[in-house]
Amino acid sequence: MNDIRSFIQALPKAELHLHLEGTITPATLVELSLRHDAQPLTLEQAEALYRFNDFSEFLEAFKVVTRLLSGPDDYELAAWRMLQQLAQQGVVHAEIYISVGVIYLWRNHDPHCFEPIFAALERARRRAENELGISLYWIFDAVRHFTVEEAARVFRKAAELRPQYPSIIGIGLGGDERRTGSEPFRHLYDEAKSAGLRLTNHAGETTGPEAIWEALAIGSERLGHVLSAIHDPALLDELRTRAIPLELNPTSNVRTGVCSSFAEHPLRRYFDAELLVTLNSDDPAFFGSDLANEFYLAHTEQGFNEDQLRTLASNSIRASFLPSAAKERWLNQIESLT
Ligand code: ADE
Ligand code: ZN
Repeated sequence: MNDIRSFIQALPKAELHLHLEGTITPATLVELSLRHDAQPLTLEQAEALYRFNDFSEFLEAFKVVTRLLSGPDDYELAAWRMLQQLAQQGVVHAEIYISVGVIYLWRNHDPHCFEPIFAALERARRRAENELGISLYWIFDAVRHFTVEEAARVFRKAAELRPQYPSIIGIGLGGDERRTGSEPFRHLYDEAKSAGLRLTNHAGETTGPEAIWEALAIGSERLGHVLSAIHDPALLDELRTRAIPLELNPTSNVRTGVCSSFAEHPLRRYFDAELLVTLNSDDPAFFGSDLANEFYLAHTEQGFNEDQLRTLASNSIRASFLPSAAKERWLNQIESLT
């Protein structure tokens, strides 16, 4: 067991579906509360915020934790801690969702609230690049059930800041697919693409295959969760022939109750069908896993051997938005790992 854990740790990996706010642990929340609050949160109170029974309650818990981040310093600490945790797992590159939509919501849509927060996030990113040797791109995530206007605000902020901050690589839509699909955002995806942003989308997490077709129809390049594609052979064919990168999150799906167990997750079947699958941890502080552990569970629960784990790592680099020279470098290192 130690051998496989060491092998996984040593594999250069990219994490492509990770929400910054979902990496904040109860202990960090307590630390932040001690900074700000006259009556700081206890650890028990903080831990209680992370309890949920289903997907809807999870989304609420995620919002509550995000609301407790009170300003740039908190975001910088959260990002730095996240990057330290990633580096410890052998993650060499990360593409991180920031819930910009939630930030605007809690700050009464103050148009100036975000820039100081983003400057702080950039400080953490640069420090990690220098001190930990890990690279990071940001993906501005809107909450799909917060209205199209809210998403427009988020995506246009990404387009506006990108010339100054090339680390802003793309946009995405999270939130509740059962309430809002992808079609209403088509014009915003077109606009973001014209601004040079890459297009991701949560699709088929709590909904059927039709939601995944819809996400593809508006031009989404990379898809998160894609759990229900397993029920639609024509869709599996489409995902394979177009080599659409899939950001799978097995433990997340088990914990939010949309998949019965890791062993039952379609990861293995997608992999065997030669889809471009990647493993990710989504919101590790809520789900009690992390990327290295997802690799480990792929081994123990679905029988992925070392070579197949190596392929998952290579897929993560291929599916990233890194330039091709950087991809080549990491792919060579993965290939030569003994
Ligand atoms: N925001 C954070 N995690 C999410 C998830 N798993 N699905 C939708 N929105 C999210
Ligand atoms: Zn997600």
